[in-house]
Amino acid sequence: MILTRKDILGLKDIKKTEIEAILNTAELMKYILKQGNKKTPHLQGKSVIILFYENSTRTKLSFELAGKYMGASVANISVSTSSVAKGESLIDTGRTIDVMGADVVVIRHPISGAPHLLARHVKASVINAGDGMNEHPTQSLLDLFTIKEKKGGFEGLKVAIIGDIYHSRVARSNIWSMVKLGCEVSVCGPNTLLPPDLEKTGVNVYNNVEDAIRGADVVMGLRIQKERQRSGLLPSIDEYARYFGINEKNIKLAKKDVLIMHPGPVNRGVEMTSIIVDEDRSAITEQVTNGVAVRMALLYMLTRRSVPDESIV
Ligand code: CP
Repeated sequence: MILTRKDILGLKDIKKTEIEAILNTAELMKYILKQGNKKTPHLQGKSVIILFYENSTRTKLSFELAGKYMGASVANISVSTSSVAKGESLIDTGRTIDVMGADVVVIRHPISGAPHLLARHVKASVINAGDGMNEHPTQSLLDLFTIKEKKGGFEGLKVAIIGDIYHSRVARSNIWSMVKLGCEVSVCGPNTLLPPDLEKTGVNVYNNVEDAIRGADVVMGLRIQKERQRSGLLPSIDEYARYFGINEKNIKLAKKDVLIMHPGPVNRGVEMTSIIVDEDRSAITEQVTNGVAVRMALLYMLTRRSVPDESIV
């Protein structure tokens, strides 16, 4: 299957077959990563520019490592010390990067739609590494990769996503992709943190965490996004933890072999207890590991604009 799109901006408008092709390529990339020498020549002669207007540890580092492992020239633009701080627009910054010959620009931006705007004005492929409250497609792809690895597939899988759905770009990308792949998705959070018309996306909506978790194959907690919250949406963090936190008691309602996930960073004791974060069924550290393989796959596929066969290994 050929990946013909120039950019990865979100999973709402991506085909199921494209997601499957990306996950298959990531599997080959993970195989490469398990070898002693992680270096591959697949991106030799290519350049990857990382342009983050928001903080990040996992996404930024994993894109940087993914590019470097495959031999690309990788450059980070520090927004606070670049000409962005002098008022340069996103489009002008993008054009500046473009004329220096960038092949891929990875952007994180606090405004929903910023990567889409950039993509329309540059020749380089653009990857959305998180835009405002809209989407975080590469996080969802690594979540899907982790689920596929652990559960073998998606059809009929019961996934419960718990937390601040309203502000979560991870929730949005996962809802679009998981429903497309045949999962039965339930979301749960306080009424003030649930967007209107959620049911129209094909998910079940709960206000009670026990109801959402009951019988789940996968339970995913979401970070309480203090930086995006207008005051008054939550009575208190303690109260949130008491009523919506994932803990040793309510996790018993899920299937025995439940997969526990969180995109990170985790507010331990808020979205989930430390015992849940660190227990055997938690895949939170594997999600981070898999992020590198998934991002390698995306960089490779976008610079080739085609899906490789087994010969890349
Ligand atoms: N999950 C995630 O996007 O983490 P970072 O903010 O550390 O990149």
